[in-house]
Amino acid sequence: MKKPFIVLGIYEVHNASACLMIDGKIIAASHEERFSKIKNDVGMPIKAAKFCMSYANIKPKDIDKVVLSNDSFNKNGVANILLKRPALYSIDDWIIENKKYWKNKLLHNKKNPQHYFDIMQGKKKLRSISHYYDLKNFSFNVSDKKFIQEFNEIRKKTVSKYLGIKKDKIEFLEHFICHHYHAYYSSPYRGKKVVVAHLEGDGGKFNNAVSIPTKRGLKILAGSKTADIGRLYQWVTLILGMRPYHDEYKVMGLAPYATNKEVLKSLKVFQNLFKLTKNKMAITYKAKPKDLYFTISEMLKGNRFDGIAGALQITLEQIVIKWLSSVQKKTKRKILCYGGGVAMNVKANGKLNQINGFKNIFVPISPSDETNAIGACYYATEQHFLRNNLNPDKIKPLISPYLGPELDDKDLLKKIKKFKKGKKIKLINNFKNNQVINYLMKGKVIGRASGRAEFGQRALGNRSIIANPLIKGIEDKINFKIKYRDFWMPFCPTILKEKSHQIIINRKNNLCEFMTTSFDVKKDISDKLNAGIHHGDKTMRPQILDKKTNKDFYQLIEVLYKKTKVPIILNTSLNLHRKPMATDLDDIFDILKNSDLDGMIINNKFLIIERDEK
Ligand SMILES: [Fe+2]
Repeated sequence: MKKPFIVLGIYEVHNASACLMIDGKIIAASHEERFSKIKNDVGMPIKAAKFCMSYANIKPKDIDKVVLSNDSFNKNGVANILLKRPALYSIDDWIIENKKYWKNKLLHNKKNPQHYFDIMQGKKKLRSISHYYDLKNFSFNVSDKKFIQEFNEIRKKTVSKYLGIKKDKIEFLEHFICHHYHAYYSSPYRGKKVVVAHLEGDGGKFNNAVSIPTKRGLKILAGSKTADIGRLYQWVTLILGMRPYHDEYKVMGLAPYATNKEVLKSLKVFQNLFKLTKNKMAITYKAKPKDLYFTISEMLKGNRFDGIAGALQITLEQIVIKWLSSVQKKTKRKILCYGGGVAMNVKANGKLNQINGFKNIFVPISPSDETNAIGACYYATEQHFLRNNLNPDKIKPLISPYLGPELDDKDLLKKIKKFKKGKKIKLINNFKNNQVINYLMKGKVIGRASGRAEFGQRALGNRSIIANPLIKGIEDKINFKIKYRDFWMPFCPTILKEKSHQIIINRKNNLCEFMTTSFDVKKDISDKLNAGIHHGDKTMRPQILDKKTNKDFYQLIEVLYKKTKVPIILNTSLNLHRKPMATDLDDIFDILKNSDLDGMIINNKFLIIERDEK
C-alpha cells in the first residue's frame, strides 16, 4: 500500500494554530489558545500541534513535511511574537507604543534609538510571557539579514525539540500564499471558473493579491503591499477606544447605527485614501498619510464615534467591491474564493453579492490568519500531488469545521459533585431533544458542548450557547447571564439549510456554513426575531447548517422549528468574557461557575441548573 502524505501546518502569530492533513484531508486542527487559555495566543503552537498529532495517532517519523506559515520574520515581526502583542497588549500599551516609537519614526522621520521591543520593556516582559523558543543567545543587535536567519533557525529547533520532527522536514512558506491556498482548496470549487483573492492587514510580500488555479498550482496574477484598508480598520478601532486585533468586529457592528449626517463628516476623511493599482487588480493608496493613527485621529477630531464607524465600513465596502468587480471583469471568472483578515468583515462580504459577474462567492472558514496552518497544509499537499502526477483537483474541500478535541466527559460526575454545592441541579442521561427544547421555550439559556470542538473564531454548535431567538428579552438575558457584550452587538443564529430560503435572501445561493457572510432577512421573519439579527440594519450572519455536517445539532434545531415554525436557533460562543472558546470539561465548569447559565448539554447528557429568576 502506498504511504499516505502527511503534513503538519503551523501558524505562529495572531491566534497561533496547527493543522494535520493526510492525503489532502484535514484530520485535526486547533488553536494554541484552546490549550493555553490565552485568547488569541501567539508563539509556536506546540500544544495545538501535539493535539493534532495525537488525535491522528501520528508519530513524528510519520510526518513528511512541516510547513510554517511566514517564510521569515523581521525585527518588528519577532517583537510582535515575543511580546504576544496581538494577544496581550492593552489599549494603553498600543497608545504608549505609538507615542514612544511610531510617532518619531513615521510622523517625524526620526530614527529611534531603541526598537519598540525595548521601549515596551520586552526583556522584562519575557520573564512572565512564556514561549517555547530558545532565546538564550538571541539578540536584536545584529544585522537584519542575520536576525532573520537566526530566528528561522530558532523556529526549526523549536519544532524539532518539542515535536521530535527532524529539521530537514521543516519548510517555510510565504504568509499570503497560505491565505490563497486555504481560500481555494477548502472550497468545493475547482478549475478554470475560479479566481482567488485575499485582502488583509499585513501579508508579507502582498497584503492583497489575486490568483488563479492552473495545472501547476495557484498562479499569482497581481498583488500589492499597500492595500492598507485592513490596517486602517485596526487603527481606527484603537482611535475609537477599542483593542486592535480583537475589537474590529465591534466597529463593524456599530456602523449601521450611524446617521447619514454623521457618516458624511467622516467619509471626507476616509474616501480619498485608497484607489486601484494601474492594472486594476489590487488596492493601493491614493494619498498615503504619514501614519494611520495620529494623522487619522487628528483628521477625525470632533466627529462622532458611530459616524466614524459607519464611514469606515462604507469606505471598506466600496473599495473592496470596486477591486473585486474589476478582478471579475479582467479575469472573467465566475466563482470567487475570497480570504484574508479583511474577509472576516461579514458585512462587506454580504455586499459582494452586488458584483453581478460572479455566480458564486465563497468565503472560507475563519479566513484570517489562524487558517494559515490549513493553507500551509493545502500548499504542501498540492505540491506533493503535482510531483506525483496526481490531480490536485482531487484534494478534498473542508467540509466539517469540527476538527478540534473531542469532549472527554469521564470526570463529569466528579465535576458535578464539586459544582453542585448549594444548587438545585438535575442530570438527564441520554436526553431527548424535546427535553432541551421545552426548556428553551421557557426562555432558558443553555450551553451545548458536544463532540469535537470547532476550528476558527465562530461557535458552530459544538461549543455554543443556545437559546430561542423568538423570546422577548432573550438578548438582555444572555448578556446578563454570561456574555457582558457591548449593547450594540447582535447575536448570530444557526438556520437549517433546507429551510434557509424562508429566512434569508441568498440570491447567489452562496454557501455559508461557517458564519462568514451577512444576509438581508425576510421582513416577516425579522419582525418576529428578538435576537439573532442586527437590530440596526436587519441583517443576519448565520451558520447555514447542513444535516450531514452536524446531525445532532441539526435534529435539535428541527425540534425547536416544530414548536416555533421558524427554523432558527440563537448560537453564540461558549466562553467567558475575554477567554477563548471552551474546549474541555474544566472550561465548561469554569463557565458554569462564573455565569448564570440555566444548563449545559454535555455530549449525550443534559445538566439542568434550576436558578431563581432574578
Ligand atoms: Fe494574514
